[in-house]
Amino acid sequence: MAKGMLITFEGNEGSGKSTQIKLLTERLQAAGRQVTSVREPGGTGLGELLRDILKNQREGVHIDPIAELLMMNASRAQLVQEVIRPALKRNKIVLVDRFFDSTIVYQGHGRGLDLDLVREVVKVAIGSTLPLQTYLLRVPLETSETRRAQRSIETGHARDRFEASERAFFERIERGYDTIARREPDRIRVIDATLPIEEVHAAIWSCFPKPCKPSRG
Ligand SMILES: Nc1ncnc2c1ncn2[C@@H]1O[C@H](COP(=O)(O)OP(=O)(O)O)[C@@H](O)[C@H]1O
Ligand SMILES: [Mg+2]
Repeated sequence: MAKGMLITFEGNEGSGKSTQIKLLTERLQAAGRQVTSVREPGGTGLGELLRDILKNQREGVHIDPIAELLMMNASRAQLVQEVIRPALKRNKIVLVDRFFDSTIVYQGHGRGLDLDLVREVVKVAIGSTLPLQTYLLRVPLETSETRRAQRSIETGHARDRFEASERAFFERIERGYDTIARREPDRIRVIDATLPIEEVHAAIWSCFPKPCKPSRG
């Protein structure tokens, strides 16, 4: 049986992460693989409660960047323990909609927290559970904005606490993603996500890691 693997998806809001995870899940399932797909923050009972706090602005509630960093990673630690590690043990493919790179980029590059501090906290949350491959879906800010607007018309959802940030924040996110992609070109595959949905899917599928057979012993 093929071994489990952890694959993560990164990119701006509206870059197509949810759309592509759905398509990839269907394709892998059709190929007979067992797939678990989860999102961050969230993916567990505790994680979804934290997601609600992190995403939905409440009057009179201010979230300090350090508190934000710790809550993101509390959600992540729970997800790793409760979902990701057990699924990998059962040889499943785990697809995660945002993982620790989002924290490096949003809380580090975006909020301006010290990157070494951010990496230390991430290490506490995930230990040695690192993704085999990460897809970075790349769209210009303008495309991200139009798609987000389109999606809120479709779903009726208002902008969340992150989406309500100023443009300079999103520019730092964009540069942050470029920086991490340059640092780890083997793990992070940059995908041109301005292409039509099916072409983005084809690009993702073409570099999907080959299942490695467990060694015979
Ligand atoms: N390649 C694409 N071309 C055009 N529209 C897209 C593409 N990928 C996604 N969309 C649309 O953009 C919006 C945001 O996509 P979504 O998958 O929710 O992004 P994310 O999960 O990264 O925020 C949705 O309305 C979706 O249908
Ligand atoms: Mg999404």
